[in-house]
Amino acid sequence: THGAEVLVASNRGPVSYELRPDGALHARRGGGGLVSGLSAIGPDANAVWVCAALGDGDREAVRRAGGGLLPAEDTGGQHVRMLGIDPDVHHDAYNGIANSVLWFVHHMLYQTPLEPVFDAGFRRQWAAYQAYNHAFAEALAEEAAEGASVLIQDYHLALAPRMLRQLRPDLRIGHFSHTPWAPPDYFRMLPDDIAAELLTGILGADRAAFLTRRWADAFTDCCHAVLGPGIPSGTRIGVHGLGADADFLRERSHRDDVDERMAALRAEIGEGRKAVVRVDRTELSKNIVRGLLAYRQLLEDHPEWRERVVHLAFAYPSRQDLEVYREYTAEVQRAAEEINSTYGTPDWTPVVLHVKDDFARSLAAYRLADVALVNPIRDGMNLVAKEVPVVSDEGCVLVLSREAGAYEELGEDAIVVNPYDIGGTARALHEGLSMAPGERAERTKRLAAAATALPPARWFLDQLQALQE
Ligand code: G6P
Repeated sequence: THGAEVLVASNRGPVSYELRPDGALHARRGGGGLVSGLSAIGPDANAVWVCAALGDGDREAVRRAGGGLLPAEDTGGQHVRMLGIDPDVHHDAYNGIANSVLWFVHHMLYQTPLEPVFDAGFRRQWAAYQAYNHAFAEALAEEAAEGASVLIQDYHLALAPRMLRQLRPDLRIGHFSHTPWAPPDYFRMLPDDIAAELLTGILGADRAAFLTRRWADAFTDCCHAVLGPGIPSGTRIGVHGLGADADFLRERSHRDDVDERMAALRAEIGEGRKAVVRVDRTELSKNIVRGLLAYRQLLEDHPEWRERVVHLAFAYPSRQDLEVYREYTAEVQRAAEEINSTYGTPDWTPVVLHVKDDFARSLAAYRLADVALVNPIRDGMNLVAKEVPVVSDEGCVLVLSREAGAYEELGEDAIVVNPYDIGGTARALHEGLSMAPGERAERTKRLAAAATALPPARWFLDQLQALQE
């Protein structure tokens, strides 16, 4: 039989489509670890990426492709099969289960008054999540050659490994979690049957892999707590700490568009001022509001920094179908405005908040940052923490949450904070802004080395190789 030798499955694919009013489809290619990882196996590799249609443009592209592979000119030559999953099913699986329940459990975001509601509506969404996972399993079963390797990504697709195993026992199946994994006491908030189904779903894979040892251990602990016997002998557990792509970042951050944005940002910051930079999706787990409150506390406790520092906060819209995300976006905005109206002067704006996603501007901010603030409540890895030291022109202090996966590798040379502790984070900002240039440069060098230990290409190939052993 023919078919692909290597398959990747993820909710979000490497390309998305916009349907223009004149009926034309405009393809936009995305970036990220998987995209560069998959390109590492070379253009001739017999690989297929299976992903879901996320919007109307995507669904139109699927229709025009007749449900088969997308046109190569849209994907940069990659073989991509997008699944035209029914929009209501996708909504319930993606927004309802994956991004509400599962994301909230693994990031431990449920705290009164945000509580999970496991009622009849939830059961309907769960059925959609099962159907969505099954659609992926069927597509992968169709596309895969005998004995092929399949790398299934993330919490959207926790059931797909086991479903695929039933359809195609010949395949080598890997699952990779890009999020943290919740410890058992928290994970068991889920209804027992669903907790068990999620775990056995992933255990359908030959290998279940995670970004850090901590998340892998939590998964193992959950298997013991929920399933009793724990990890079956057929499933191996792996850890692959995705690193930053130094070659790509160094080249990309010195192009003209980045230089232009640096000039614009310097004008916004003003002569002789320092910059505290953060770049995130506007995401509850990123803890943006507490970051702003910590900066406010810094201005309060250390008036000497007033007029001498600017906080560049880039908070790019994310998951706006969910009401809590829309509310959070407004809360971030309000917190920034409050600081500006309390402390701002005619020629100093303490917080510059940008919400329009602009990769070149993010890189420009990385280059000129004096302090980078990465303070998530919980985060699978956090690549911003790894990218800043690689790109920084003159060294940048990293203020890093101990709850980010990146802490395991970068903790020694960062200033480490408890993300809930606003006062402690304010002190860390002060310490970072006050650090001597020599020490700052030394630390940045060591951070960059640790951050690039496992570039995306090797991250991907290591997983593939481990799966094939
Ligand atoms: C996290 C998840 C990814 C996801 C990304 C963006 O990093 O681990 O799977 O693609 O967030 O979220 P979105 O819902 O926009 O795909």
